[in-house]
Amino acid sequence: MPINLKGRSFLTLKDFTSEEIAYLLQLSADLKTKKRMGIRGNLLAGKNVALIFEKPSTRTRCAFTVACIDEGAHPEYLGKNDIQLGHKEDVKDTARVLGRMFDGIEFRGFKQSVVEELACYSGVPVWNGLTDTYHPTQILADFLTIQENFGGLKGIRLVYCGDGRNNMANSLMIGSAKMGLHFVIAAPRSLWPESELVESCKEIARETGATIEFMEDAIAAVKGADAIYTDVWASMGEEDKMAERVALLSPYQVNARLMAATGKEETIFLHCLPAVKGKEVTEDVFESRSSKVFDEAENRLHTIKAVMVATLGN
Ligand code: CP
Ligand code: NVA
Repeated sequence: MPINLKGRSFLTLKDFTSEEIAYLLQLSADLKTKKRMGIRGNLLAGKNVALIFEKPSTRTRCAFTVACIDEGAHPEYLGKNDIQLGHKEDVKDTARVLGRMFDGIEFRGFKQSVVEELACYSGVPVWNGLTDTYHPTQILADFLTIQENFGGLKGIRLVYCGDGRNNMANSLMIGSAKMGLHFVIAAPRSLWPESELVESCKEIARETGATIEFMEDAIAAVKGADAIYTDVWASMGEEDKMAERVALLSPYQVNARLMAATGKEETIFLHCLPAVKGKEVTEDVFESRSSKVFDEAENRLHTIKAVMVATLGN
């Protein structure tokens, strides 16, 4: 059956099959080639896209904006102080108003329930640009980068070091389960993800051949890693936890010693960015040949474009 994602929202990778995710990655690669060839498209011509940001963003905002313009859509940035949402108007009403005017809505903010409510009431595709719980568009960029380096995803050993219960860890775990990776979280037990999510990922993993593991010893965890991933120790909205996290997560810093402990020359380093150098990653690893973080950042554009084209495109 040909894959058709028209009209669908993109709220969490849980809602997508392995085949649908593979399709989005192939479309991303095709759109990347097209962009490199300098071909302007019209796959989103005539579409109006709302970009709601309760939290700041560089990559996600710019990727949505440029992707819209590359394919002929009009992006409208709506910052947290620009609209009534969260001040004078509830989510349900905002959703219905925006759905009458826009063809698609991106939302970045705190609660996953808000992006879900927007999708429920707007009547148009809604895309999750990050919530406290998930960051699904980032995973597409991460996986495209892994594919570019290793030719595929199945069987890749991806080790995530750091805050094992944030939006990135949750979403990498779901994506890995769906796409057959060997995913390891190296983190103190107090920062492992919620058991309900772990169980549902393990159930998916049983079907795809993926494995999901948790380890407290970072050096042991990274042995044989194809990719080491990290993220900030305190996510947006939890800046007050930084001191506590430094104490807990210093043994999980991605530094030259940890990279060497993989025992592999070809291990790559990934980070969703923005990075706090000297905390979760050292400057030398960040700037090393192994670091693919700027390919990964560029891939945000191609993958976000693919999500919009697939769900909204002409
Ligand atoms: N990786 C990512 O989502 O970056 P921004 O916060 O800059 O959008
Ligand atoms: N976990 C980070 C990801 C940023 C892209 C945060 O939520 O701040």
